[in-house]
Amino acid sequence: MEAEHVDDDLTEVVLTEEQIQRRTTELAQEIERDYAGKELLLVGVLRGAVMVMADMARSLKRHVEMDWMAISSYGTGTSSSGVVRILKDLDTDINGKHVLVVEDIIDTGLTLSYLLSNLASRGPASTEVFTLLRKPEAQRMAVKVKYVGFDIPNDFVVGYGLDYAERYRNLRCVGTLAPHVYS
Ligand code: PRP
Repeated sequence: MEAEHVDDDLTEVVLTEEQIQRRTTELAQEIERDYAGKELLLVGVLRGAVMVMADMARSLKRHVEMDWMAISSYGTGTSSSGVVRILKDLDTDINGKHVLVVEDIIDTGLTLSYLLSNLASRGPASTEVFTLLRKPEAQRMAVKVKYVGFDIPNDFVVGYGLDYAERYRNLRCVGTLAPHVYS
């Protein structure tokens, strides 16, 4: 759906579908160069990364493997605690593989920090991170992220995989949620 289909729930469209696609294509070209001659496994973090994974993977003009993890943060609804539980693990043994973790957003960095140390213990050849969005002002844990689509302000954004109460994930753009929706 488009911004016009959610009435006045958005105060602003932060990124249009076109901006997202253009940047995704640029980063896909970087990934093609960086991993030339190497096998690559994309690991999507459910559920927010579904749209990012689908579009980024299809932008790549090469073979990749794709796998998924589902993790749950013991947080207070809107903020994560950094204590993470694996709900669905990888089906793939990543030992010796080049892994690229695909995220929709890095907020505090706590989820990713846990995930990266967990993956590192499995002996991959390399681990890097791709995220469409990053909120530098919200960061509490420093994580090395090789591919960043956009740095955005610390506002409540939804769309393109990102939800509020499981809604808005199927919005084509990314927008700032109006306070009247969540207050
Ligand atoms: C989001 C996002 C990251 C995490 C980032 O997932 O996909 O995994 O939060 O937050 P952090 O940097 O503060 O740890 P969420 O827990 O909302 O689950 P979802 O992907 O299923 O919506």
